[in-house]
Amino acid sequence: MKLFIDSADIEEIEIALKGSIIDGVTTNPSLIKKAVEKYRGRSGKGKLDMQTYIEDILRLVGRSRPVSLEVAGTSYREMVREGKTLYKRFNRVARNVVVKIPVNPSLKLDSVSDFDGIKAIHALAQEGIPVNCTLVFTPEQALLAAKAGAKMVSPFAGRVDDYLRTKIGKKFGKGDYFPAHGIVKGKALVEDNGVISGVDLVAQIAQLFSLHNIQCEVLAASIRNPRQLREAALAGAHIATAPLAVLKQCTQHEKTVEGMKKFTKDIVPEYAKILKP
Ligand code: G3P
Repeated sequence: MKLFIDSADIEEIEIALKGSIIDGVTTNPSLIKKAVEKYRGRSGKGKLDMQTYIEDILRLVGRSRPVSLEVAGTSYREMVREGKTLYKRFNRVARNVVVKIPVNPSLKLDSVSDFDGIKAIHALAQEGIPVNCTLVFTPEQALLAAKAGAKMVSPFAGRVDDYLRTKIGKKFGKGDYFPAHGIVKGKALVEDNGVISGVDLVAQIAQLFSLHNIQCEVLAASIRNPRQLREAALAGAHIATAPLAVLKQCTQHEKTVEGMKKFTKDIVPEYAKILKP
C-alpha cells in the first residue's frame, strides 16, 4: 500500500518527505494554482518561474517516487500533445513523471466526447508514458481507462461523498466523515448509480480489477480524513493520496497524547541518565 501527498506546495511535499511517509505526489491544476498564489504572494514580486518550480518538486521527490502532472486540454489532440510535452520537458529531471488525463474531458454534462480521454490514455501509454486517469466516478470509467493502458486510476472518493450528501440536501464540512456503508434517506440507501460512498467506489474498482486480473493501480484520491484513508486501504486501494493535513491527522489520538504525558512525567533520573550519549 502506497501513500502519496496530494499537493503542489513544495514546502508541504518536503515536510511529508522528511516524515518518511510518502511514496509519490499527485497534483492537479487547482493545487498548482493554490501553490502559485501562495509563493507569488510571498515573494511580493508576482513572479514565479513555473518550469523551475515544477523541476524543483520533481528533483526533491526523486527518482523512485511518481509525481502526477495534469494536462489542461480537453480534446484528444490537445491532451496527447500536452501529455507528451509534459513528459518530454520534465521526465528528464528525475524520471518520475506520470501524466494525468481526465477519463472524460467533456465540459458539458449532456455531451459525450468520442472517447477523447480514453484515446489519449491509449496514445500516451503506447509511447511508454505512464498515465494516471483522473476524475473517475464509476467503476466502468476505471475499466475503460485500465483497458486503454492507464497505469493508475483515481476514483475521487471525497467528491463522491459530497455528491451523495448534496443530493439529499445534507449540510457537511469538507473533512467530515462519510460512512463507507452509505447513508439512508427515508428507507433507501442514497446512491449514485449503485455507488453508495467514495470508499464503495474504491472497493468496486479494486474488486473489478482483482476479479479480471487487471494490472492497473487503484489510487484513492480526494481523501478528506484519516478514517476514509483507512477504509480506502481496506477496500483494496493500492495507493491513497491525501493532503498534508490529513496525513498529519493520521498520527493523532488523544490517548496517545495522554500516554506521552504520563510516560514523560514518570521518567526517573536514573533512566534519563542512561539515555544520554
Ligand atoms: O486527488 C484529487 C484531489 O486533489 C481532489 O481533492 O479534496 O479537492 O476533492 P478534493
